[in-house]
Amino acid sequence: MSERTDDGQKDGETVLEVHDLTKVFGSGETAVRAVDGVGLSVKRGEIVLVMGPSGSGKTTLLTMIGSLLKPTTGTIRINGLDITSLHESELTKVRRHYVGFVFQSFNLLESLNAQENVEVALNLAGNAGKGARNKARQALVDLGMKPRLKFKPKALSGGEKQRVSIARAVVNDPQLILADEPTANLDSKQGHDVVVLLRDIAKKEGRTVVIVSHDHRIREVADRVLWLEDGRFKDIGRLERDPVCGMAIEAEGAPTLQYEGRTYYFCSVGCRGEFEEQPAKFVAVGTPSAAQSPISGD
Ligand SMILES: Nc1ncnc2c1ncn2[C@@H]1O[C@H](COP(=O)(O)OP(=O)(O)O)[C@@H](O)[C@H]1O
Ligand SMILES: [Mg+2]
Repeated sequence: MSERTDDGQKDGETVLEVHDLTKVFGSGETAVRAVDGVGLSVKRGEIVLVMGPSGSGKTTLLTMIGSLLKPTTGTIRINGLDITSLHESELTKVRRHYVGFVFQSFNLLESLNAQENVEVALNLAGNAGKGARNKARQALVDLGMKPRLKFKPKALSGGEKQRVSIARAVVNDPQLILADEPTANLDSKQGHDVVVLLRDIAKKEGRTVVIVSHDHRIREVADRVLWLEDGRFKDIGRLERDPVCGMAIEAEGAPTLQYEGRTYYFCSVGCRGEFEEQPAKFVAVGTPSAAQSPISGD
């Protein structure tokens, strides 16, 4: 019923191949195996969502795939190129041309406007002048940002900032887009818009998209969902939605509470405490509440 492994279908063009990847932080008694023997294969145009509790190694995995962090052992191939064997100067090229990153906190340069933020990515990749300016502009216009081209980040909403960062991620035309909790700082409407944009990037533009997130809405567009726990992929059990924070969580082992004949599941005792204080706030009467629609494991 669930995807234990991470092998995509065997046909089609494989864009990302990760083999036996490990990252150990520190050494001796205090060593942390943040990623512990992970394998993954993702095709062109495919959207893979990696879920898992906080601290399970999601960011570590994604930053290694994006060549921002060196693995302890294992290999990562992007378009057949083994990036784990490359020198730093070559890795810079990989980051600029092969991969686009979308971060939870947007990581925009505050002193530059939206268009300039996108233009910088082009400049770093060796594309300058009027051509770069026009390309940056078009990337933003394509994402509905025409009225905001000259706005600095502080004048943009969270959703608009994330559009700028998506434009920046795709502008050099990389095959692989990596997104770390891309909707975590957005309200529900803006989060939904970002999910739709990521879907279009994969399905209309044929890019490969790997997203790590707790956000259950991303399940709706993902071709595959993988569950990372203690640095390893494991079977997805039954997933439930925390009615307080909306996070997708594995039912097994989660803190629970009975309320009006139902069992509710929580990501933490903190969320359970909040629910306990004012359950009515989280259980909407007459409308299907988050908790009433468990997310089925597949
Ligand atoms: N730079 C680092 N140095 C030491 N430990 C780290 C570092 N980055 C992450 N870790 C540890 O690795 C584990 C996985 O972290 P992370 O990948 O950030 O998880 P997630 O993104 O799933 O919340 C955690 O135990 C975290 O404390
Ligand atoms: Mg993280």
